[in-house]
Amino acid sequence: MLTPEKLATTKDYILRRTKDLDQALLALGDPAGKDVLVFGCGLGNEILWCARRHARSALGIDLGTPRQEALNAVMADEGYAAFPYAIHECNVHDLALDHPGRYDLIVSNGVFEHVSDLKGVLNAMRALLRPGGRIAIYADGLWFSAIGGHLGKYNWEHLWMTPQAIKEQFPERWHAYTNNLNRMTAVDFLQALRDVGALVLQFHVRSDPYLSKLAPLMAQIQARQQVSPTDLSITSIGCELCFLEHL
Ligand SMILES: C[S@@+](CC[C@H](N)C(=O)[O-])C[C@H]1O[C@@H](n2cnc3c(N)ncnc32)[C@H](O)[C@@H]1O
Repeated sequence: MLTPEKLATTKDYILRRTKDLDQALLALGDPAGKDVLVFGCGLGNEILWCARRHARSALGIDLGTPRQEALNAVMADEGYAAFPYAIHECNVHDLALDHPGRYDLIVSNGVFEHVSDLKGVLNAMRALLRPGGRIAIYADGLWFSAIGGHLGKYNWEHLWMTPQAIKEQFPERWHAYTNNLNRMTAVDFLQALRDVGALVLQFHVRSDPYLSKLAPLMAQIQARQQVSPTDLSITSIGCELCFLEHL
C-alpha cells in the first residue's frame, strides 16, 4: 500500500506522462473502439490514455511487478472505473501463447530502447494481433542520443564519461545503465523489422534536440568508441507496423 504522499506523486506522474501520448502515439495508432495491448505499461499511463481515447478495453503488460494502486485511483478520479482494464506482470511470449489473435492494436511507449530481444518480441506481437491489427511503437532516448544513457545530467555523458565515473556519479542508475538499455540504433531497429518481415506503414525518426551541443563533445566520444554521427543525431523512432496476414 502506497503512503498518501507516494500515491499523490505517482498519480501526478501518470497524469503528466499521459499528456504526451497524443503527440507520441495517436498518429501511429488510434485506440478508439479497439482492444488494446499496452506493451511495457509501467505505471499504466497508456491505459488511462486508451480510456480517454475510447478504446474498447486495455491490458497492460510489464516485466516489472504491477503497481496498480495509483492507476486505479486516477481511473476512478477521471470517471473510468468501469472501463475494462488490467495490468499483468507478464512476458509477451506467454501472452501470445495464451491469447493469440486477441488484440486490434498494440501500443508501446518508451520501451523498445530497453528490449533485449527485438525480433522475439516483434514475433510475439505478430501472433497477438487480429486481422486488421496494428502495432504502434514510440521509443525515445535511443542509446546514442544525448539522453540515451538515461542518466539525466549532461548531454551524451554515457558516451564520453568512463564507466568508473558513471558508477560513482550515478550509483542509483548504474543497474539500469548496464542491464536495461539495449544500445540499438534506428538502423538496428529497422534491421530487426526487416528480419521478421514486418510491414512498415509509417516510420519516423526525430532529430536530437541537443544536436547543436554535439561538436565540442565529439573528440571525447570518439576517444572512447567508434560511433557514426548519424546515430548520435537521432533521438527517437516512431512507427506503425503490421504483418501480411493483418492487412
Ligand atoms: C521507461 S519504462 C516506460 C513505461 C511506460 N510505458 C511509460 O511510458 O511510463 C519501460 C518499461 O518497459 C518495461 N519493459 C522492458 N522490457 C520489457 C519487455 N520485454 N516486456 C515487457 N515490458 C518490458 C520495463 O519493465 C519498464 O516498466
